[in-house]
Amino acid sequence: MEIYTLTPNPVHTISKLIFGDSWDDLRHFLPGKPVILVTDSTVYRLYESYFTSYPCVITEPGENNKQLENVQFILNQLLEFGADRSSLLLAIGGGVVGDMGGLAASLYMRGISFGYVPTTLLAMTDASIGGKTAVNLGTWKNIIGTFTQPEFVYILPQFLATQSDRDFCSGMAEIIKHAFIGIPEAISYIRESHQEIWSRKSETLFSLIKQSVLYKSAVVEQDEKELGLRAILNFGHTFGHAIEEEGRYTHGESVALGMMLAARISEIHCGLSPAVTHELKSLLQRFSLPVEEFPSSDQLMHNIRKDKKKSGNHIRFVYLTSPGHPRVELSSFELLESYLHKILPI
Ligand SMILES: NC(=O)c1ccc[n+]([C@@H]2O[C@H](COP(=O)([O-])OP(=O)(O)OC[C@H]3O[C@@H](n4cnc5c(N)ncnc54)[C@H](O)[C@@H]3O)[C@@H](O)[C@H]2O)c1
Ligand SMILES: [Zn+2]
Repeated sequence: MEIYTLTPNPVHTISKLIFGDSWDDLRHFLPGKPVILVTDSTVYRLYESYFTSYPCVITEPGENNKQLENVQFILNQLLEFGADRSSLLLAIGGGVVGDMGGLAASLYMRGISFGYVPTTLLAMTDASIGGKTAVNLGTWKNIIGTFTQPEFVYILPQFLATQSDRDFCSGMAEIIKHAFIGIPEAISYIRESHQEIWSRKSETLFSLIKQSVLYKSAVVEQDEKELGLRAILNFGHTFGHAIEEEGRYTHGESVALGMMLAARISEIHCGLSPAVTHELKSLLQRFSLPVEEFPSSDQLMHNIRKDKKKSGNHIRFVYLTSPGHPRVELSSFELLESYLHKILPI
């Protein structure tokens, strides 16, 4: 077992990141206070025996259910189970459960303790780190939320054995993103161990997740509220969100396509070597991620103009100058559109 203590600024909340060996060891991290579990029905069905020791709130799975009504459902259940300010809410599930559980914990009686056991690759490497919680408002993603650091995150790669291939590969997109923006040595590691990753070999997943998660933690520690540095984590996400909005691809698949566009644009904007774009493409393809089926540039620009992160006619866009060297620049929509016209169709 390995334990890291994270100290995100500026609120100085302490959060423990635990790489666990077994489900049973989790109990060492449960304080002597009342625990209430939150999960979704899929995870509950798959791991029913894990949920017998504490009262459990079971939500419906899926992004469509990441809505305020379901947070209210969790809050009602907390009340029914007699949770008080000393209780700990332990969310066990993918990013949807983590987001809703974290938000409910931050709201219930003005905030109770929160722990998280992520059960998907995306949740282990991305959603569990950073303290962002949110639900969607209608179709608007992540509009209602808080910054709430969990007291601990318990990562147990054995959960990944039951994850669908499509969801698993979507998680790989964020891991590949971390490698290109901040852990260049992980690029060759992923390339060389891709068979073991595919077969979900525990030790390989363990080191892969560890590299990625510690990288994201280090970035978040320096900039919890995304005032500057943290924006680099949005590499591939400006176009990624615009693609995701079309409804055809998962988040990870959309980010894969978004990274391909960002890399091609970076070749023009800041001299990224085409060999890097090629390496990115081949790595994404190894995990069955899409790399060239883009919406039209008109459709992309239409969606980007609605991005909640825009400021006026500009948006902070993450370019890549070389592996490990992202660069964030406020870029006009006109500039991005002119780049798209140069590179599409790829
Ligand atoms: N808070 C953050 O910083 C942050 C970061 C990235 C993503 N997110 C959010 O995370 C969500 C996506 O997360 P996700 O991909 O984990 O989706 P998810 O939670 O919807 O899980 C995907 C599906 O897998 C099922 N599942 C979960 N664990 C499983 C397991 N071990 N075996 C089999 N099936 C399992 C779930 O029931 C669900 O049907 C999005 O809502 C996104 O906005 C949040
Ligand atoms: Zn993402």
